Amino acid sequence: MHRKMSEELTILLMLPSLLLVSGRQEAPLQVNGLLNQSVSFQHHVQRVPLKRVVWELEHHGDTFKLAEYKDFNLIIQNSRFANRLEASDGGTTLRIRDLRMEDSDVYKLLITLRNADIKTVYFNLTVYEPVPLPDIKTEGVINSKTWCNFTLHCSVPSNVSSGSLSWLYRYKGAGYQHYTGRSTVEISLHNRADNMELLCLVQNPGDKKNQSVYVHDICHYPMLIVTDNTRWIKQYVILPILVLLILILVLIKIYI
Ligand SMILES: *[C@@H]1O[C@H](CO)[C@@H](O)[C@H](O)[C@H]1NC(C)=O
Ligand SMILES: *[C@@H]1O[C@H](CO)[C@@H](O)[C@H](O)[C@H]1NC(C)=O
Ligand SMILES: *[C@@H]1O[C@H](CO)[C@@H](O)[C@H](O)[C@H]1NC(C)=O
Ligand SMILES: *[C@@H]1O[C@H](CO)[C@@H](O)[C@H](O)[C@H]1NC(C)=O
Ligand SMILES: *[C@@H]1O[C@H](CO)[C@@H](O)[C@H](O)[C@H]1NC(C)=O
Repeated sequence: MHRKMSEELTILLMLPSLLLVSGRQEAPLQVNGLLNQSVSFQHHVQRVPLKRVVWELEHHGDTFKLAEYKDFNLIIQNSRFANRLEASDGGTTLRIRDLRMEDSDVYKLLITLRNADIKTVYFNLTVYEPVPLPDIKTEGVINSKTWCNFTLHCSVPSNVSSGSLSWLYRYKGAGYQHYTGRSTVEISLHNRADNMELLCLVQNPGDKKNQSVYVHDICHYPMLIVTDNTRWIKQYVILPILVLLILILVLIKIYI
């Protein structure tokens, strides 16, 4: 689909008139939007003089006029879209603001060229609801000298429409790797001191949200106990010595 468009564009640059005849597009361009956000219908804009630019809406086989671009102005002809449409690139790019679920439809761009040829581009808009923020629960942490085993459970509130869930992981400085599409994962780490991030991702084609946990916050490796040792030294060795020194100084002051 994309390659076809760029091939057409190349042809356009060499033989403009050829494209204008054959530039009909069959399958609509897929556009995903998010509720209350905005979306733009964009395509390869032709740098040719345009006579007329009209936007239409196709709903259950019927065609409705949406807007017309005239004298550098977009005239909105459908009250449902009042104050929600903006045009650019000579009217050939349309932006819809404050998206509603019912805006999911097929949109049609009709460009009439100077030579009266009409080029049509279809856009299939699907508006999605935002996905909820996933929640991670850590269970059954078993820490031994060489192993750290635990279970992670990722969930989303059941009363909101959600997308698909997946687990990704990465080590410090590396990219994310796909792990699994299951919501519950059992992790067994052997002698692993690197800090690993485990990320639960919830997404639909319009939105995505994630939550992470870090292995160092779950597992206690011998390396981390070293830090505890220094705290232990501070508390039980350095502090008493300081107190003793102060006591000696005070005693010296009293007796001299
Ligand atoms: C979308 O906007 C409407 C009206 O402003 C508001 O009631 C609703 O909560 C919003 N929904 C989301 C998911 O942002
Ligand atoms: C528009 O997109 C939706 C969601 O992907 C799909 O279900 C529908 O069949 C598409 N319609 C057309 C006319 O391509
Ligand atoms: C889902 O349920 C929770 C509590 O059970 C409630 O606070 C929240 O508003 C609900 N969300 C929706 C979208 O109904
Ligand atoms: C952790 O899991 C591994 C692999 O499942 C197992 O061999 C090992 O005994 C487990 N360690 C502990 C401390 O339970
Ligand atoms: C996770 O969410 C944060 C903040 O919302 C975002 O910056 C980050 O790109 C997301 N990560 C992934 C892998 O989607």
